Amino acid sequence: MTAEIRVDLSDGILTITLARPDKKNALTNEMYSTLADAIERAEHDGNVRVALIQGDGDMFTAGNDVGEFAAIASGKGPSESHVHRFLHALAKATVPIIGAVHGKAVGVGATMLLHCDYVLLTQDAELITPFINLALVPEAASSYLLPLRVGHVRAFEMFAMGEPLNAQTAVAWGIANKVCANDELRIDARRMAERIAAKPAGSLGAMKTLMRQAEMLVAQMDRESAQFQERLISAEAREAFAAFAEKRRPDFSKVAQH
Ligand code: COA
Repeated sequence: MTAEIRVDLSDGILTITLARPDKKNALTNEMYSTLADAIERAEHDGNVRVALIQGDGDMFTAGNDVGEFAAIASGKGPSESHVHRFLHALAKATVPIIGAVHGKAVGVGATMLLHCDYVLLTQDAELITPFINLALVPEAASSYLLPLRVGHVRAFEMFAMGEPLNAQTAVAWGIANKVCANDELRIDARRMAERIAAKPAGSLGAMKTLMRQAEMLVAQMDRESAQFQERLISAEAREAFAAFAEKRRPDFSKVAQH
């Protein structure tokens, strides 16, 4: 349990707030553990009718903590990794999940939205999937879900180029439901959560189960994870993490292909 994730239940709405604003809500192993607990609770606590994920500070999240990637790459990773418990909980969730995104949603911040059932973006929101720029591969079953959602060539471009996708385009491509004014995000998200919480929860859960192939998503996550672990310890990835730490652009030209 870390204070960098706040979890609050009121009126059947479990609000999960990413709260590490000084590091742009970059997600650590400890934060994944609390996130996993929260999604598992949303699934099993009969008082929870809908979950809502949002972020403090000036962006939703900068994605996985790159320092922790670098630690894993140099063999100093944590003994127990919680990211998979979080991702599996997302894949298996039948409780409705709302994503409320302002500013940037990077890496897993963007791919977790593919597991949300209703997504609100502020006008300045940007979705960024920089896995290839970090010499990694996409995760969270996004290698399956993103092409399914937006088509192969758009997904390829988002993954391979890592350029930001703006809010209007994200809505047009079916990644998000609506764009709202920056100061209205939390109000609009809460209002939608209240409306969903008033619906028959059993029926909603059954509908969500029918709409998603949870076992297939978990299997895809495990396939991705095998590639991800391999890429994490590659020379390319070490160059990408060193470049981030040194606040410079990576230079992959001198790194051999394998
Ligand atoms: N992991 C660890 N620390 C991070 C981080 C991350 N993913 N993203 C930001 N931070 C830290 C920065 O190192 C900086 O720390 P410092 O104040 O101790 O130097 C602090 O958060 C503020 O970040 P900064 O880069 O100054 O903010 P910005 O508004 O200029 O840029 C981003 C924001 C998100 C564009 C930029 O931080 C970034 O590209 N982060 C990495 C994103 C990423 O690659 N994530 C992994 C996805 S798989």
